[in-house]
Amino acid sequence: MASSSASYWLTASLAFILTLQLLVLRESQAQLSSTFYDSSCPNVSSIVLDQVQQAQKSDTRILASLTRLFFHDCFVNGCDGSILLDNSSTIVTEKDAVPNNNSARGFDVVDNIKAAVENSCSGIVSCADILALAAEVSVNLSGGPKWSVLLGRRDGTTANITAANNLPGPRDNLTTLQQKFNDVGLNDTDLVALSGGHTFGRAQCRSFSNRLYNFSDNSTADPSLNSTYLTTLQNNCPQGGNGSTLNNLDLTTPDTFDNKYYTNLQTKEGLLQSDQELYGTGASTASIVDQFAANQTVFFENFIAAMINMGNISPLTGSNGEIRSDCKKVNGASARYMIRMAVKDLSSAKA
Ligand code: HEM
Ligand SMILES: *[C@@H]1O[C@H](CO)[C@@H](O)[C@H](O)[C@H]1NC(C)=O
Ligand SMILES: *[C@@H]1O[C@H](CO)[C@@H](O)[C@H](O)[C@H]1NC(C)=O
Ligand SMILES: *[C@@H]1O[C@H](CO)[C@@H](O)[C@H](O)[C@H]1NC(C)=O
Ligand SMILES: *[C@@H]1O[C@H](CO)[C@@H](O)[C@H](O)[C@H]1NC(C)=O
Ligand SMILES: *[C@@H]1O[C@H](CO)[C@@H](O)[C@H](O)[C@H]1NC(C)=O
Ligand SMILES: *[C@@H]1O[C@H](CO)[C@@H](O)[C@H](O)[C@H]1NC(C)=O
Ligand SMILES: *[C@@H]1O[C@H](CO)[C@@H](O)[C@H](O)[C@H]1NC(C)=O
Ligand SMILES: *[C@@H]1O[C@H](CO)[C@@H](O)[C@H](O)[C@H]1NC(C)=O
Ligand SMILES: *[C@@H]1O[C@H](CO)[C@@H](O)[C@H](O)[C@H]1NC(C)=O
Ligand SMILES: *[C@@H]1O[C@H](CO)[C@@H](O)[C@H](O)[C@H]1NC(C)=O
Ligand SMILES: *[C@@H]1O[C@H](CO)[C@@H](O)[C@H](O)[C@H]1NC(C)=O
Ligand SMILES: *[C@@H]1O[C@H](CO)[C@@H](O)[C@H](O)[C@H]1NC(C)=O
Repeated sequence: MASSSASYWLTASLAFILTLQLLVLRESQAQLSSTFYDSSCPNVSSIVLDQVQQAQKSDTRILASLTRLFFHDCFVNGCDGSILLDNSSTIVTEKDAVPNNNSARGFDVVDNIKAAVENSCSGIVSCADILALAAEVSVNLSGGPKWSVLLGRRDGTTANITAANNLPGPRDNLTTLQQKFNDVGLNDTDLVALSGGHTFGRAQCRSFSNRLYNFSDNSTADPSLNSTYLTTLQNNCPQGGNGSTLNNLDLTTPDTFDNKYYTNLQTKEGLLQSDQELYGTGASTASIVDQFAANQTVFFENFIAAMINMGNISPLTGSNGEIRSDCKKVNGASARYMIRMAVKDLSSAKA
């Protein structure tokens, strides 16, 4: 009696797991969808909003930092939460890559969001989707547009520090920027619209000091940099000073998500060389800059489209990847994890 009951539950739970797997497999071709969590975690957007607002109280810059994390995630292995992984026996963390080290920030806030989301709907929402949601919330809280975030990404189990070291860099020329965006399926319109992310947040002196000093002709500095702005920057970033000193990326409206980034480029007041490249003499992207500078609505529409395009870079869906329980670590060794999940299924089947 006892043993037939046990085998009944074993059979039932196996059938349950198989049914789940069939459902999951059927979904594995699935596209991302704005309604993905509508029944499994209906409140996820407001939980993310709530947590980001909490963080914002003590840190204005966090809205920019969270937006940047989504970019640095999506350009490396696709939007799979890889940037969030710490070192472990199987992971060499992307946090140590040159563009991220002492620069990418907001990881503690992502952990707080994840904890709050797990508290409402355990094991449902991926860390990759949390980054996508946090970016949208951050843009809107800064005065930017709102949009329906596409969801359903799963978390990866690998990181790639080599690829992270190859992220677009502040000294890249237009050709290199176009190439790096093209490599992930993004065109010139996306490049110019997404660079508008530099309408808020900060950059360290070391990210643009190449534009301030040591030109072959020391009498004239970087000709693409406004001479008044050059003086301001030289004062804030003295030669031999602390390369970690922060500067606003947008000198006009430092914390507002608007189209001032583009009017800054028109007056040669882009902070990074990679910013000003978009408006260089003869640059094929200059006309797009002019369109976004002339009409903020046009910028917002194109920014939304480009964020959706970037969010679609090689997502893991269906049964690929996993839903991490801790954004900093891949889930436990697979055998141990499968047993734990099977036991969980068994007890929920009994209940
Ligand atoms: C086009 C190629 C890009 C390059 C070369 C680039 C480079 C940089 C650099 C060098 C910094 C300053 C880092 C530091 O000094 O610590 C920075 C900051 C930032 N980037 Fe980009 N970026 C690019 C595209 C993007 C995109 C696509 C977004 C988002 C849509 C973005 C959002 C940001 C934000 C918000 C900050 C400020 C972060 C903070 O204050 O914590 N960037 N970027
Ligand atoms: C949804 O989350 C928000 C923010 O955490 C909370 O204020 C609200 O009460 C939640 N609503 C429901 C129905 O759980
Ligand atoms: C992560 O591991 C790499 C190589 O295994 C090491 O060089 C690096 O210092 C470690 N980073 C941290 C933050 O522990
Ligand atoms: C990252 O920055 C730390 C200082 O905060 C430094 O000790 C470390 O060497 C850097 N890592 C790499 C890989 O450059
Ligand atoms: C968020 O987006 C909505 C819709 O576009 C807009 O009405 C609202 O003003 C935005 N929020 C902020 C703070 O700008
Ligand atoms: C890591 O990224 C580099 C550069 O993009 C690529 O050549 C390499 O194949 C990637 N490695 C893995 C294991 O995906
Ligand atoms: C852009 O930079 C790449 C890589 O540094 C270089 O090979 C290329 O010649 C540069 N192109 C232009 C037009 O300056
Ligand atoms: C980029 O692609 C979008 C469609 O995603 C298209 O509307 C736009 O015209 C393209 N831009 C360029 C410069 O080709
Ligand atoms: C510029 O050149 C001077 C003199 O050669 C040198 O001491 C200084 O470190 C250089 N600064 C930068 C930012 O390269
Ligand atoms: C070049 O200009 C910088 C900044 O004005 C100055 O500090 C430096 O002494 C000059 N270097 C030379 C070699 O004239
Ligand atoms: C530079 O500034 C950073 C933070 O602003 C600080 O942690 C660091 O100690 C400073 N380095 C030097 C050499 O003063
Ligand atoms: C430099 O910036 C000032 C202030 O924005 C602007 O009036 C001027 O036209 C700019 N100079 C150039 C060459 O764009
Ligand atoms: C800005 O662009 C929007 C969207 O294309 C359009 O509806 C609006 O009329 C434009 N505004 C101006 C002042 O041209």
